[in-house]
Amino acid sequence: MKPPGEAFYPRPRVLIAEEEVARRVRELARTISAEYADAGEIVLVGVLKGAFVFLADLARLLTVPHIVDFIAVSSYGTSTASGEVRLELDLRSRLEDRHVLIVEDIVDTGHTLHYLRELLSARNPASVATAVLLRKPDRLETVVATEYVGFDIPDVWVVGYGLDLADQFRTLPYVGQLDDEEVLAIKRGRTP
Ligand code: IMP
Ligand code: MG
Repeated sequence: MKPPGEAFYPRPRVLIAEEEVARRVRELARTISAEYADAGEIVLVGVLKGAFVFLADLARLLTVPHIVDFIAVSSYGTSTASGEVRLELDLRSRLEDRHVLIVEDIVDTGHTLHYLRELLSARNPASVATAVLLRKPDRLETVVATEYVGFDIPDVWVVGYGLDLADQFRTLPYVGQLDDEEVLAIKRGRTP
């Protein structure tokens, strides 16, 4: 329960229901397990914080050997439009000659993923690929490979299943959608 005086947040509308997310994550895990069947141990690189739920579910369904590591990045300024991305927390694992699978919550402009692929490719891995739960094709500003994609979605702000707005909503079990007024109000720290 929220203590008195703390902000009350709206309940986001369902964009992708819990069961639908679970079904798609199972499919992705099957495909990835088949394609990496002979690859040896793969390194799953979760992008904090948004990917932690997707990564936890996906990794537990993989039938190929893997380890889990995390990386954190942030975008400069209030928008990712500048395309400037900064490394906040690096991996602990060495990637040389290993198969790397970046696990990300969402591809919006594509700048974050582009940055990560360049960064990790420079460490001489055997391969680099990406699994993203969501992708907003209308917002893409840069060409970036996404080998495994859960869902293409419209240009709306989504929360839940790891995704946030102002660090809220990450543990909703479904992918929810907030409308523009709700987004503005929450960003300003007020209820809509
Ligand atoms: P990109 O660099 O523009 O592709 O942005 C990717 C990052 O922006 C993601 O990792 C998310 O952290 C964040 N992001 C973009 N769209 C959304 C959204 O609709 N909900 C929550 N986070 C988002
Ligand atoms: Mg993210």
